Amino acid sequence: MSHRADTNNHDDDLFASTDSRVPSTPMHQQYTTIATLIFITLMALGIFSNKVTAANDALDVHQKHYNGSLITGIGGNTSTNVYIIEKEKESTTETANTGGHIPTLLSIKEQQLQSYRDGTGLLLNVHVTHHGGTFFCFAMNQVGPCPKFACMGGDNWPKNTTLFAKAKGPWSFNDTGPFVNEARQYFHMISWEFSHWANLGRTNWHHPDLVSVAIMRHPLERFMAGGRCGGFKDKLPRDFADDPGLSDLYWEYANAACADNYALKVFTGSSGCCNGGDTDVKYLDEAKHQLDQFTIIMDQDCLTESIYALFDLLHLNTTEALQKKAKSVHEHKPVRERIGNDTLYEYLEHHFRRDIELYEYAKSKSILDCSTLNRRA
Ligand SMILES: *[C@@H]1O[C@H](CO)[C@@H](O)[C@H](O)[C@H]1NC(C)=O
Ligand SMILES: *[C@@H]1O[C@H](CO)[C@@H](O)[C@H](O)[C@H]1NC(C)=O
Ligand SMILES: *[C@@H]1O[C@H](CO)[C@@H](O)[C@H](O)[C@H]1NC(C)=O
Ligand SMILES: *[C@@H]1O[C@H](CO)[C@@H](O)[C@H](O)[C@H]1NC(C)=O
Ligand SMILES: *[C@@H]1O[C@H](CO)[C@@H](O)[C@H](O)[C@H]1NC(C)=O
Ligand SMILES: *[C@@H]1O[C@H](CO)[C@@H](O)[C@H](O)[C@H]1NC(C)=O
Repeated sequence: MSHRADTNNHDDDLFASTDSRVPSTPMHQQYTTIATLIFITLMALGIFSNKVTAANDALDVHQKHYNGSLITGIGGNTSTNVYIIEKEKESTTETANTGGHIPTLLSIKEQQLQSYRDGTGLLLNVHVTHHGGTFFCFAMNQVGPCPKFACMGGDNWPKNTTLFAKAKGPWSFNDTGPFVNEARQYFHMISWEFSHWANLGRTNWHHPDLVSVAIMRHPLERFMAGGRCGGFKDKLPRDFADDPGLSDLYWEYANAACADNYALKVFTGSSGCCNGGDTDVKYLDEAKHQLDQFTIIMDQDCLTESIYALFDLLHLNTTEALQKKAKSVHEHKPVRERIGNDTLYEYLEHHFRRDIELYEYAKSKSILDCSTLNRRA
């Protein structure tokens, strides 16, 4: 399956995306029961050839992926309602216009997930550059057809259809339904990638067949990710901490327009954002509102586990290749150490404070609360 990863050029994002806190402790250390050890041994020996999970193994799988934590009602408690209710309690008063009865945001999301399970729902990852889109694409490629190029396009994207020119999105409100249904005939998951204001508000996020996903990442982690924007990828080949001679360039990058409150700029409702530490709170409020519309939010801090949780929610089986890939992802040092200069670090914290607030908000809405996972100290 690894050829799929080769079909896109976002590989540094794979590492950037799942870098720092995906547990890399050998899996066997997580287990305390002999039965589980036997299961893993069989797996390592390839006894379970392709799909490693099954309903009967659900408990093992959850203990494996989430390291024993039962998280927001997903883990051992597989009722989707539990998850949704936990996450969306506050938002249930929101309404959508569907003529006649007024569904809650909660019921809309339940319907979208059910639609996916029924084979009519389309997953759409709104991929902020460096937010784990490559890894998520790899995972989804394991279990169904996706566009070959980074789940966004490529030579298997239907050419002679109305969908053809609309690979990139965002689709207009009225186009959403027809395009979702058309895309679902070819793919179970697609992505749109953005690094600028995306005008996401024009899309019908409440369409019953659209399962929207957003992966959110700490803005300073993204700032240090491999593919730095504005040409700084090449200009800044090393961490500041490893090369103090890069100081001036790091300050330039810190103040670059392309880096300014990056994810906030993508999700906010109006163009014109942002202005560093002086960014108007209205942009933050708009971006929060946009995130509220997403069916699923994942915190990149525990992306692997979040993807496993999503698989559970969608009744998908994980694969050996995915688990292998997840384990191969290396860790980075904490971002403060990588920056290695407290003056710059604190400047960035202030400069990107609205984006950081958006991330904190997203964490409170995400499929897993990463802080509840058992991890290495
Ligand atoms: C998951 O695996 C189980 C056991 O191998 C199988 O019965 C089930 O059909 C699989 N589900 C999917 C969606 O592939
Ligand atoms: C699942 O979650 C619900 C709601 O939080 C709770 O009432 C129920 O006891 C849980 N079930 C299990 C098996 O933990
Ligand atoms: C593409 O669509 C046009 C117009 O509908 C049609 O005439 C043509 O045969 C199609 N081409 C292919 C390769 O399907
Ligand atoms: C979208 O569809 C509605 C209902 O059919 C229609 O009233 C409206 O004019 C359409 N909007 C656009 C921009 O086409
Ligand atoms: C951090 O960077 C600033 C500006 O580049 C510099 O003046 C300062 O000495 C640096 N501090 C440390 C502890 O390296
Ligand atoms: C899993 O949890 C145990 C117990 O809390 C901990 O010792 C271990 O390091 C955790 N494993 C990972 C991979 O985080």
